[in-house]
Amino acid sequence: MKDLIGRIRTLKEERGAVILVHNYQRPEIYRIADHIGDSFGLSKKASETGAEMIVFCGVDFMAECAHILSPGKTTLLPEIEARCPMAAMVSVEDMRKLKGKHPEAAVVSYVNTSAGVKAESDICCTSSNAVKVVNSLDEKDVIFVPDHNLANYVSRHTKKNIIPCKGWCYVHDKFSAGMLRRSKGIHPDAEVVVHPECRPEVIDLADNIFSTGGMLEHLKKSTSRKFIIGTEIGMIERLKMEFPGRTFLSAPPANICLQMKKTTLNSVLESLEKEQHRVTVPEDIRTRAKKALDRMLEVV
Ligand code: 13P
Ligand code: SF4
Repeated sequence: MKDLIGRIRTLKEERGAVILVHNYQRPEIYRIADHIGDSFGLSKKASETGAEMIVFCGVDFMAECAHILSPGKTTLLPEIEARCPMAAMVSVEDMRKLKGKHPEAAVVSYVNTSAGVKAESDICCTSSNAVKVVNSLDEKDVIFVPDHNLANYVSRHTKKNIIPCKGWCYVHDKFSAGMLRRSKGIHPDAEVVVHPECRPEVIDLADNIFSTGGMLEHLKKSTSRKFIIGTEIGMIERLKMEFPGRTFLSAPPANICLQMKKTTLNSVLESLEKEQHRVTVPEDIRTRAKKALDRMLEVV
């Protein structure tokens, strides 16, 4: 593994690349990262980087966002099959239908969407800024796609009328309120922190709700020693690494995002060697999608 990491680092320098790594990636991928973070933090890094090449260790929509924000750079997704199923749950046709049905509504798309869907939107959001983004709008009615759990969470923190869609994340939607209640009974001293993509009944049992980046920031301030974490299992590894003296348990049942785990050190090396898989978006779609992403970056 050491050799593989060394080869990746050398090639990365030769290519003038920056390696962006989502929190849900395998722990060995953290070791080659220039930046590890949540969707929002990594979008910001992608928009600010001076590197000539971006290697995105995450899923399809994240690399697409990087290309939308920095079209002059080469953006690579090491694993072509690393595709977020939730992002595929809303199509451009679905968006046009929703907009036709609610012509007065503003349209907010979660970053977990295709470039085409972003191009149909007024503004994007991530799990860390969804409430702020929705509350920044003038419109009373807000179409929110695709995650209906996140839409529900936002609706609890706004006076706007949220019009949800049919999408969900299979990783977060699986956490069980009944099992979490039992787990809290076994560990009454644990603080429960869950992601806003969880179901409302799971959110009701949590002490705090944060994006993956928000969890890290919160942990810096929290005085708790034990935590039950409701998000993809990879985040537990990240938290253990950052806060070695504390105990982290997964909310039950522990869930894995198979698409996030497709990226390996071998695929990153191959990606740098062959400059694959290049992510591009047709220019007319990219410029419209960029407006929605830029507007989000201005809000927060
Ligand atoms: P964040 O990193 O924004 O918390 O998003 C979680 C997620 O599911 C990304 O696909
Ligand atoms: Fe998509 Fe959920 Fe996996 Fe994130 S964790 S990439 S939202 S399936």
